[in-house]
Amino acid sequence: MKEWSSFDTITKANGIWLIDSKGNKIIDAVGSMWCNVWGHSNPQLVKAITTQSKKIQHSSLFNLTNEPVEKLAKNLIKISPGMNKVFFSDNGSSAMEIAIKIALQYWKNIGQTNKTKIATVENGYHGDTFGAMSVGYVPEFFAKFKEQLFPTIQFPVPNKYRIPKGLSFLDHQNDCLEKIEKRFSKKDDIAAFIMESGAQMAGGVIIYPKDFQKKISKLCKKYDVLFVLDEIATGFGRLGSMVQYQEQQSIPDIVAYGKMLTGGYLTMAVTLANKKIYDSFSGEFNDWKHLFHGHTYTGNPIAAAVANENIRMYEKYNLIKKIQKTSKVFEKFYDEILDIDIVGDIRHKGMLMGIELVSNKGNKTPIKTKKSINKVFFEEGKKQGIYLRTLGNIVMLVPPLSIQDNELELLLKRTIKTIQASKSKII
Ligand SMILES: Cc1ncc(COP(=O)(O)O)c(C=O)c1O
Repeated sequence: MKEWSSFDTITKANGIWLIDSKGNKIIDAVGSMWCNVWGHSNPQLVKAITTQSKKIQHSSLFNLTNEPVEKLAKNLIKISPGMNKVFFSDNGSSAMEIAIKIALQYWKNIGQTNKTKIATVENGYHGDTFGAMSVGYVPEFFAKFKEQLFPTIQFPVPNKYRIPKGLSFLDHQNDCLEKIEKRFSKKDDIAAFIMESGAQMAGGVIIYPKDFQKKISKLCKKYDVLFVLDEIATGFGRLGSMVQYQEQQSIPDIVAYGKMLTGGYLTMAVTLANKKIYDSFSGEFNDWKHLFHGHTYTGNPIAAAVANENIRMYEKYNLIKKIQKTSKVFEKFYDEILDIDIVGDIRHKGMLMGIELVSNKGNKTPIKTKKSINKVFFEEGKKQGIYLRTLGNIVMLVPPLSIQDNELELLLKRTIKTIQASKSKII
């Protein structure tokens, strides 16, 4: 992209503020790609990193283990009801590749060879590697690789802003669920149903209506389909609960966390599985039931140490309660944001807000322009003192989870100014 031929250099950061080489201070409205929890340069997290890096910096999880990773596995099992074992990796896409491989291999391990297909939802996003792209097809991102992606069975997700004509929102939800049940009951060939937990992030900040995920979870149980949840972007408090699948009253067989796991400081992700899944992999060597998957930095002890400290701090400072309280600040700005003539809809939950830009509020036409909306908003945001990213026609607010009320107010005021200033440049 020609418009991104040069970049500002971030040299320092503190709390919600990023500071560039010229000394400009901007609010990190993106939470460093949706992963920052305690703000930047948090002394407790930095200490966890430095303390561990003096002991052992990296030691392979092939044939060995290390103390921070053992502790982290226990911590994760403790917070994740129904989960039994943890598989470590170093980014969210890999965690989802692992989830896919575990789900497919599970059926082979138990001798059921008919279950080879993966069901997903439209516009899901699970990362940029080929398996993750296949199960999370966002047309704008992945169309160039369509021929190489493996086929999946996709179902629609209810979208309150775009309800099909003639249907109530409830009819629309039931319609989506009926499509799933119809296919599940038709043929017993589906290995797993994979979806983001609680909301679709990159697919447009689509927050699921109450009970939608719960009902899919029930359908999976009824038709013996593994239920695989991606909490990489939505767990760990982003939507206001530590474990989103708990809030959704759904029961996964496999769940992935990433992003906020290390407070957003180091690269680590995990794939958790329940006992039924784990047991199917633990045969004799010659049974060849084990999972062939591993990465060089799997279970890195420094990343695990900072993740342990991060989880300790969630409890110590009661972060989830704080997120639920601070989340109300967004509500105070709903009217002002919706009043802007290019804003069609706002979708908000926990520490996440998506603002949908439209060229016509009446017919809800998404704003389309030859220019990059992201670039326009990035430049205008910078002038207002915020680091902002849009995904397509959605302005995403994904700040550090521990942002203070007054800081969030400032961010929202600056976002409103940015949308107003960007308007003439994109229509
Ligand atoms: C829901 C979800 N799953 C998986 C990923 C991929 O994670 P990573 O970028 O760490 O590979 C992302 C990244 O944004 C995501 O939002």
